[in-house]
Amino acid sequence: MKNEPTFLEILLTKIAFYFYGKSVYKSFADRLPLNGGERVLDFGCGMGTVAYYAAKKLTHGHLTCMDISGRWLNACRSTLRDYENISYILCESPDLEDECFDIVYCHFVLHDISKSELEKTVPALINSLRTGGVFAFREPLNEADKLKVIKDLTEKNRLILKESRVTDIPLMGNALESLYVKQ
Ligand SMILES: C[S@@+](CC[C@H](N)C(=O)[O-])C[C@H]1O[C@@H](n2cnc3c(N)ncnc32)[C@H](O)[C@@H]1O
Repeated sequence: MKNEPTFLEILLTKIAFYFYGKSVYKSFADRLPLNGGERVLDFGCGMGTVAYYAAKKLTHGHLTCMDISGRWLNACRSTLRDYENISYILCESPDLEDECFDIVYCHFVLHDISKSELEKTVPALINSLRTGGVFAFREPLNEADKLKVIKDLTEKNRLILKESRVTDIPLMGNALESLYVKQ
């Protein structure tokens, strides 16, 4: 089915998670401003690589894992089976309440989305953040066109850049990691 990973893709991602879980996914989760009680959205959660580390910190908060793929979402359910404060949403494009999250993050997701879809998706994600909330993403640096679209959309939608860095991700190369705050 369209948007669904093959068995091999899921297997390779599980292997990458096993070897690079801490250096890649935990390092991103550790830079999110999580104190434990936040309402967080992982948009394009995949098998829950980042969600696994975010969920550990959300001792009295809530994590929503959203993905376009039922297979990835099932893999995510399995990764997060020990946690109860998680919702799973299968979606084509995000249909979210306004201001219902403190943090929204996307990890290697936005570059997969067409420019025209990004123009709907990014504002919808930002609308779902409360004022003062945080929008964070990490996307491949070589996707310059998509990064420009994302940057323009963040500026148009009341976000202020707070932190930005380039990280070298094993097997994937350099990635831009940015954290914005909603005004
Ligand atoms: C490269 S994977 C990254 C998964 C995970 N965030 C990680 O870093 O391991 C991209 C994920 O984004 C999801 N995705 C792509 N387009 C999407 C969309 N329009 N809405 C929601 N999820 C989407 C894919 O199904 C896939 O799970």
